[in-house]
Amino acid sequence: MIFAADDRAIEQAARALRDGQLVGLPTETVYGLAANATDDAAVAQIFVAKGRPADHPLIVHVASAKQVPLFAAQVPEFAQRLIQAFWPGPLTLILPRQSGVATASAGGQDSIGLRCPSHPVAQALLRAGLALGVHGVSAPSANRFGRVSPTTAAHVQSELGQDLLILDGGECAVGIESTIIDCTRGEPVLLRPGHITRPQIEAACGRIVLDKDALTQAAPRASGTLESHYAPRAKVRLISAHDIDAKLQALGPHANNLGLWSAQRPDAGAGVVWREQPTSPEQAAHDLFSVLRDLDARGVTQIWVQLPPDTPEWEGVLDRLKRAAA
Ligand code: TXA
Ligand code: MG
Repeated sequence: MIFAADDRAIEQAARALRDGQLVGLPTETVYGLAANATDDAAVAQIFVAKGRPADHPLIVHVASAKQVPLFAAQVPEFAQRLIQAFWPGPLTLILPRQSGVATASAGGQDSIGLRCPSHPVAQALLRAGLALGVHGVSAPSANRFGRVSPTTAAHVQSELGQDLLILDGGECAVGIESTIIDCTRGEPVLLRPGHITRPQIEAACGRIVLDKDALTQAAPRASGTLESHYAPRAKVRLISAHDIDAKLQALGPHANNLGLWSAQRPDAGAGVVWREQPTSPEQAAHDLFSVLRDLDARGVTQIWVQLPPDTPEWEGVLDRLKRAAA
């Protein structure tokens, strides 16, 4: 059931969370599948609904930085600066977990992912939840495991079915999941690139951001960091702008059931379904998952994607594309 997110629906959703039920939640990045973070039985239902392995930790969403000490045992100074600079907003911090809190949500890690979303409906629900004793809300992206994240309420319903209470908060403005910074290793480590870029993080906290590949210790399991993820049904191929025309020509009139997401309209026949790739990374992130879904729905068997530039601004989009293609 999709509900317009008015005060009544938000109250109803907050009571559902308090009562151990799941809610489809709009955020500025993607839609989440939410449960009370401290209710292990409710959180267990998230893993079942998504088909996600139970040892993949979830992000806990909080109304403000005031809730951080309830979940995190300690916040390094550089992490405090990031909170000040980017919350509420699309940034998740991995912090040492308070022992005994949100154990199921953390998937057995001794750390916890925390994020304070800026979407007004997410904020309203988190605040209504607080009034009912729900101090944080665990929410992975509201898609079946391994598939494309949803950026509209209708996407959530098509992934998870009619029975779920979904708050409609419109199209997600950002369109790709939050930037994740691991703050448990003494230096900031980028686990997942997103809308907030590496240079922005470095400027805000005055530290160099390390790559997760540079870590010697194994990083915790993170489905958002699996090599193959965010995959539509069609096979995705990344192709440089320079090569697209030649490859289309090579197919000639036989191009069939081919999706293409590129900046320039191709000179191709009716067998090619073209979508325009925006030249701004923010707009491309906004469009990315809905374009993949839309092309899938048109029954294409392959999706060719113009390879975006290898610059910090495009890191989040490029990361999702590489994993959609893996
Ligand atoms: O933008 C977002 O972050 C969205 C919206 C709904 O807020 N949520 C989201 O959740 O993308 P999910 O579960 O699809 O991705 C969360 C990522 C996963 O890669 C997970 O493994 C990682 O965060 N994560 C969560 N807790 C962690 C922890 N304690 N240590 C390491 N990684 C963690
Ligand atoms: Mg996800």
